Amino acid sequence: MSLTIKNLHAWEILDSRGRPTLAVEATLSDGTAATAQVPSGASTGTHEAVELRDGDLTRYAGKGTLQAASHVNGPIRNVLTGHNAEDQEAVDKALIELDGTPQKSNLGANALLGVSCAVARAVSESRRQPLFETLSLGNPTLPVPMVNILSGGLHAGANIEFQDFLIIPHGFGSYAEALEATVRMHSVAGQLIRREGYTLTGVADEGGWGPHLKSNQAALALLTDAITEAGYHPGDQVSIAIDVASSHFYHDGVYTLKSERRTLTSAEMVDLLVSWTKQYPVVSIEDGLFEDDWDGWRLLTEKLAIDTQLLGDDFFTTNPRRLRRGIDEGCANAVLVKMNQIGTLTETFEVCDMAKFGFYAAVVSARSGETEDSFLADLATATGAGQIKIGSITRSERLAKYNRLLELEARHGLEWQGHRFLSDILGGGGR
Ligand code: PGA
Ligand code: ZN
Repeated sequence: MSLTIKNLHAWEILDSRGRPTLAVEATLSDGTAATAQVPSGASTGTHEAVELRDGDLTRYAGKGTLQAASHVNGPIRNVLTGHNAEDQEAVDKALIELDGTPQKSNLGANALLGVSCAVARAVSESRRQPLFETLSLGNPTLPVPMVNILSGGLHAGANIEFQDFLIIPHGFGSYAEALEATVRMHSVAGQLIRREGYTLTGVADEGGWGPHLKSNQAALALLTDAITEAGYHPGDQVSIAIDVASSHFYHDGVYTLKSERRTLTSAEMVDLLVSWTKQYPVVSIEDGLFEDDWDGWRLLTEKLAIDTQLLGDDFFTTNPRRLRRGIDEGCANAVLVKMNQIGTLTETFEVCDMAKFGFYAAVVSARSGETEDSFLADLATATGAGQIKIGSITRSERLAKYNRLLELEARHGLEWQGHRFLSDILGGGGR
């Protein structure tokens, strides 16, 4: 007998920044009920699917999600009740058709995604399967994490412009060992910040350090020192990734780096990034250029794609049409995959597949506003993408995902392939 959707119920909850988001419960015909919680970004790209907010300034400064919840509890529930829960593609298609807009602005991508994920989790619980198995189409892979250590930009008071300085701990025998080394490097980075006399501004939005550094380059130097002082080899064991998030300091055709006292054209920005990959063990650059600077992206790709992962976040917004154009025009070589940028699970998988067939790498990513839901860890594993970006290794909305990956390694025997990171992703296997 087929498993059908018996009920859907959504309500407003708060994310890790204390801003409203949604929880959705799906109940199936066999009585199984499961809940999913929806993430929420701050440095959002213009081309993202629309996160529906109430706009009622008397509640949560207009950011309430009661309307999105009412869409789940009304029209979405009406259409999906009695629908086959095990056909995720058909569930998502029904959601997309009911919304009927290109950016999901009618019902809200937050409403759609909550339903999509809650149904998937309810099916996995009904089958008594780990979630990654239910989601996977074969070849699940425990991902290599890209871990935030220092933050700037919109996530840490904007004293330096680049948003994230991260490490990729690839040269370890297991995911558990890589995580232990990461905690050590995070702690050493904190000691270095204090030793060098920088003011610590508290914890940044994704749980990393948010120091008042004097420049973006100082952050790269500090991170490289933290790797070495913690006893690891930069480049061989641990590499650096940056999320430039450059759309947020691009205005009127130029990139303004106040902390470096420079205003750069697109070509000069490319040269700066090239020079920093030569000086520091940077192997991955996210949003190095503005989200609509296609010519700049082409130039950056020509200069760096041979040995650097060039990752589009605001540039691609997990959107198959934008990724298709990137592949066709030789822009970037990797895509950041955020479920709520596109709004359903099926479309998220579609983007991962498109990346694979275009020889682009894929990094499954959390948002700066997260919840205690660990769905992302199973999703990243199920896609076989090989990489995950969760934020830092403090704060439980991040640890929920890191800890779930520990569980997948310990309890479900999934093998970690960190040692293949450099050859697979950077040696051409990922593209
Ligand atoms: P966001 O930031 O969730 O605020 O968009 C994360 C990122 O830019 O990668
Ligand atoms: Zn980003």
